[in-house]
Amino acid sequence: MKTPRELKVKPIKNGTVIDHISANKALRVLKILGLPSPKISVTLAMNVQSSQMGSKDIVKIEGRELASREVDEIALIAPHATINIIRNYEIVGKGKVKLLGEIKSILSCSNPNCITNTDEPVTTRFAVLQKEPMVLRCHYCERIMDQAEVETQFRVF
Ligand SMILES: Nc1ncnc2c1ncn2[C@@H]1O[C@H](COP(=O)(O)OP(=O)(O)OP(=O)(O)O)[C@@H](O)[C@H]1O
Ligand SMILES: [Mg+2]
Ligand SMILES: [Zn+2]
Repeated sequence: MKTPRELKVKPIKNGTVIDHISANKALRVLKILGLPSPKISVTLAMNVQSSQMGSKDIVKIEGRELASREVDEIALIAPHATINIIRNYEIVGKGKVKLLGEIKSILSCSNPNCITNTDEPVTTRFAVLQKEPMVLRCHYCERIMDQAEVETQFRVF
């Protein structure tokens, strides 16, 4: 008997489905989005089979349409993520996250003497010098961080 093609997450009426998240990164994606939060219902699928990626995570957010600006930082940890906007059970918009020229707030600087690591209320800012593999430069102290270092500097998880 053939296995029926199933939705990996139950259908939602309105909201956002973030598909093609790198396997095991869904929790970090939620943190970047400030979720979970009390009134928004979220469903996760982790390590599910994907023909394109081998395995992937999916996040389904009910009742909230994410604007592309709020999701682009997801590209730091899930560069292939797809954003699907759902209205009345139908996909009305589909887009890819993209890494912009500047990363704000979600990373710490690896230089302990950087002003962003003191008591000063300064939000971190990094210029993206190279995307793959990633190379970032701190706007304040000019510290260069490579991909491996970036992985260790997330403020969440
Ligand atoms: N109403 C819905 N509620 C919840 N999830 C949905 C809904 N409609 C689609 N999805 C999910 O959104 C994602 C994209 O759906 P789509 O039908 O575009 O699949 P696809 O053709 O494989 O797209 P892609 O080419 O982006 O992989 C899938 O993970 C699908 O399960
Ligand atoms: Mg697909
Ligand atoms: Zn710095």
